[in-house]
Amino acid sequence: MTLIMFGFLMKKKGCVITVAQQKGGVGKTTISAHLAVALSQKRNKVAVIDVDPQGSIKHWYNLREDRFGEDYTGLYFFSISGWKINSELSNLQQEYDYIIVDSPPHIETDAKAVIRVADLVIIPVQPSPADLWATKASVALATNEKIPYKLLLNRVPHNSKFAEDVTKEYPKNIFKTQLGNRVAFMSCLAEGKCVTETQPKSAAAEEMKSLVTEVSSMLQTLNKTRDAA
Ligand SMILES: Nc1ncnc2c1ncn2[C@@H]1O[C@H](COP(=O)(O)OP(=O)(O)O)[C@@H](O)[C@H]1O
Ligand SMILES: [Mg+2]
Repeated sequence: MTLIMFGFLMKKKGCVITVAQQKGGVGKTTISAHLAVALSQKRNKVAVIDVDPQGSIKHWYNLREDRFGEDYTGLYFFSISGWKINSELSNLQQEYDYIIVDSPPHIETDAKAVIRVADLVIIPVQPSPADLWATKASVALATNEKIPYKLLLNRVPHNSKFAEDVTKEYPKNIFKTQLGNRVAFMSCLAEGKCVTETQPKSAAAEEMKSLVTEVSSMLQTLNKTRDAA
């Protein structure tokens, strides 16, 4: 699909959400796909951007096209190299309500580029010391670029002391919503779907809906501040 969309005729300025974390396997792709679907189910026009050369979200999207048909995925998909993202985004922002950027495990320049363009950076963190250490690098990137960010605790076991500790360390920059370690988040991806589609009444789907509520209200507040500036 062409990225040239005569954006100058339109006024919309879509919100860019980058899901970033230098460590692999923390849930970036899972969360990107789920957020995109859950936002589109709320009648938003959502683009998914894959800057990960491994292309795992592309793989998921291809499965989705096979299942639903090319024009019926409910989403729009683009693969963009990290360094090109800045130039491509302004057109996309005029076309879409939300642009979800699934980022690769760190390649320093790409990571900076995808964080710099974001209205909000979501940093998934699993409750383990290694994840928390890796998180500090992503937090530092967002802070240096003055981009709002929030940690999202993922695969959290019941009553996790570590999750409590992370919350205490980042009291203002952590989502209230936590995602449990749930097979449902994994199995739906193999069908090119997300839990809010496959198991809409499940605990996993409730968690995702709660995350979308938090993300939307945070972005609304950020937009008001941006418009007032
Ligand atoms: N909340 C969760 N519950 C269960 N499995 C999860 C959850 N989040 C991610 N996973 C699984 O963990 C693995 C790594 O997730 P992925 O989204 O690919 O991470 P990343 O994109 O950061 O490398 C995948 O197999 C995924 O299905
Ligand atoms: Mg990934």
